[in-house]
Amino acid sequence: MTSETWTAVDEYLTRLLVPADPALDEAQQAAAEADLPPISVSPPQGKFLHLLARIAGARRILEIGTLAGYSTIWLARALPRGGRLISLEFDPKHAGVARANIARAGLSEMVDVRVGRAIDSLPALERDEPFDFVFIDADKPSTPDYFRWAMKLTRKGGVIVVDNVVRKGGIVDASGADGDIEGMRKFLAQLAQQSGASGSVLQTVGAKGYDGFALIVV
Ligand code: SAH
Ligand code: DHB
Ligand code: MG
Repeated sequence: MTSETWTAVDEYLTRLLVPADPALDEAQQAAAEADLPPISVSPPQGKFLHLLARIAGARRILEIGTLAGYSTIWLARALPRGGRLISLEFDPKHAGVARANIARAGLSEMVDVRVGRAIDSLPALERDEPFDFVFIDADKPSTPDYFRWAMKLTRKGGVIVVDNVVRKGGIVDASGADGDIEGMRKFLAQLAQQSGASGSVLQTVGAKGYDGFALIVV
């Protein structure tokens, strides 16, 4: 099986299960036009996150790593009326593209994109109500720090999802680990020891290659 097959299957599944959607399609187009890296979740993955947030009955969502707001739009659409999503993004250019995309999707009222290093924005969230759902998808070396914060900020019974935890299988080879892989290995070791949380990892293939999601219930 080749990555060509993975991409073909992703396209087939997208055609069947993820109908064309102006807000999402324009968000990806705007991201490409602004030269943002093409690293958002795929359409089937975006819908998958949306369904997870609905299963969790999420009313308050935290996202770490906004990029152009593609995953943000999928997640915000899982919210009930009066729900809220806070998304943390370091790069002001990314945040600008994301805010325009979120506005086009009619979600500006529910979504707050906060610009700055996530590690600097997270402490202020402790003063608010806890989150029902947290999606961690920013700089990979900081994932252990983000997971520590997510454990503090998520209510009991809440859900944490972490993207890119498998990195083409690189996580099994400690010797060849770069900073991203090292971050994920540390996060997984931390998860294994974490009291008050139960997690697993699903390996994924698709148009974005070979990677995986961690799913954690607090
Ligand atoms: N969740 C998005 C993809 C996020 S890509 C989607 O699926 O659509 C990762 C994002 O994290 C990038 O936009 C990058 O600028 C941002 N990022 C990198 N380092 C960061 C940091 N220290 N704090 C907050 N965001 C950061
Ligand atoms: C890459 C993919 C991602 O989903 C991400 O959040 C960051 C980087 C990548 O393929 O490089
Ligand atoms: Mg990602």
